[in-house]
Amino acid sequence: MKVLVKEKIADTGVDLLRSRFDVDLGLDMSDEEFRAKLPEYDAILIRSATKMTPELIDLATNMKVIGRAGTGVDNVDIPAATRRGIIVANAPESNSVAAAEHTLALALALFRNVPQAHSSLVAGRWDRSKFKGAELYGKTLGVIGFGRIGQLVAKRAQSFDMEVIAYDKFVSAERFRELGVEGCEELTDLLGRADLVTLHTPKTPETIGLIDAEAIAAMKDGARVVNCARGELVVLDDLVAGLESGKLAGAALDVFPGEPFTDHPIFQRGDVVVTPHLGASTAEAQDRAGVVTAEQVTEALTGGVVTNAVNIAAVRPEQMEALAPFVPLCEKLGRLAQGLGQGSVDRVAVEFRGKLAAYDTRLLGIAVLVGILSGNTETPVNLVNAPQMAEERGIELIETKDTGSEDFTELVTVRLGSGDEEVEVAGTGVGPKNEPYLVSAWGESFYLPFAEHITVFRYADQPGMIGRVGTAFGEEGVNIVSAAVGAEHGGGGDAVMALTTDAAVRPDALQTILGLDGFSLGRSVDL
Ligand code: NAD
Ligand code: MLT
Repeated sequence: MKVLVKEKIADTGVDLLRSRFDVDLGLDMSDEEFRAKLPEYDAILIRSATKMTPELIDLATNMKVIGRAGTGVDNVDIPAATRRGIIVANAPESNSVAAAEHTLALALALFRNVPQAHSSLVAGRWDRSKFKGAELYGKTLGVIGFGRIGQLVAKRAQSFDMEVIAYDKFVSAERFRELGVEGCEELTDLLGRADLVTLHTPKTPETIGLIDAEAIAAMKDGARVVNCARGELVVLDDLVAGLESGKLAGAALDVFPGEPFTDHPIFQRGDVVVTPHLGASTAEAQDRAGVVTAEQVTEALTGGVVTNAVNIAAVRPEQMEALAPFVPLCEKLGRLAQGLGQGSVDRVAVEFRGKLAAYDTRLLGIAVLVGILSGNTETPVNLVNAPQMAEERGIELIETKDTGSEDFTELVTVRLGSGDEEVEVAGTGVGPKNEPYLVSAWGESFYLPFAEHITVFRYADQPGMIGRVGTAFGEEGVNIVSAAVGAEHGGGGDAVMALTTDAAVRPDALQTILGLDGFSLGRSVDL
């Protein structure tokens, strides 16, 4: 398989990839060459400079995984990748410490005019009085976005004896308390109290332009702003206006909208400190990010567990061991239920009983969707794009769990609803490898190993019916591999027969049997 390392990552990461794959380094690739070669690659590793747009993703016809050696995935069009079944995986914790330390470096540089004083002295001036600064000690730090980096920044600021307040819509009051931080209910509370506002949210539709003229007006007079998150969070022209009017005392920026970004009036100001997106640029962070991303890409290309995938249900490795053997069973049940029904599907209910119910079964629910949709869509369906494809088709998935199971250690039941109709199939895993077995269909119970071709009949429960199917299939040259009959619940003396064959059953062969006396329904499904 071919992997393109498009941006600079640590050599350790590149070496790891080289031990398994054919690796190209594309650091100096022109845009034209990149576009032309993109279809060759099974995986790409990028940092923040490469923008994986929907157009580029469409060109990458062989691509299975995009590895983002860093935190933010805002340079990858996730819906476009997901639609194409491409896993996007990042290395979210690899550079959190680096970004937090850089935030503090910027704050100290800003409060003490370090870059300005440095430039002045190396230019031959000894201006001690010009660069009087301010202390962090005793000041209030307002952290917006109290995730990985925000929390690390808070902890470090506390060691400077700053009072830390924070605003994060998705963090519990308990977590704020644990870290000795006061959580603010409203953003304006934080803005009105902080001497230093630091931004640590992702770039989302809600956070773009978070610091605009209105937010600046709500800030304390003389406040300072640090942005080491994403450039788009701050409206630069409003920031310049806030500095110009004297409302703000200074700003430090590591990130900018539309990087590389080198030309803006903000760069001319003496009260502003800037760095060119260096938050993650430490040897340690790059090493971690390179290795973690290379590992994630390797897992994705070799069918392993991609723990940092951002567009696939994340499953912890210890859970994956228990769940993975049931993925094929769930796919087969989904496909069979779809094949035994009328075709259209409105809703999918999946019930997990027994030991499986103790796990996070989202991945198995998605596997059922893969089974239902596969063969029916233009784009191949997989565990990445199945939820999105189901949503686009208005198919609702409901999962239920019950750790109690009378007859089987694990039992998966799939019910497909289409209008008033419902089709139900159930299966289990048998033996040390949890081989998939069908245990019920159309309301009757069996015990039949799944195989590639399966046919199910409903018929009048009377002597000779199994023989008739055998004869008819024999005449059609179809060999029956295994068969099972369920007749316990059939209303009006009906029974259900399920059989597997060594080849696909042609529609006319099925019709021949359905034309025989006593057969009311029959479907053949290729799994
Ligand atoms: P994270 O996901 O751990 O934390 C983000 C926090 O923001 C979460 O707790 C979330 O609840 C909160 N949040 C989201 N929307 C919000 C909103 N509207 N209002 C309030 N809070 C909101 O992310 P992280 O790893 O801490 O990264 C934070 C930022 O830093 C990201 O933008 C990331 O891309 C950026 N980053 C920059 C560099 C750099 O080199 N400058 C390096 C690493 C990360
Ligand atoms: C990140 O999101 O990880 C950072 O912005 C750093 C980077 O992309 O290099």
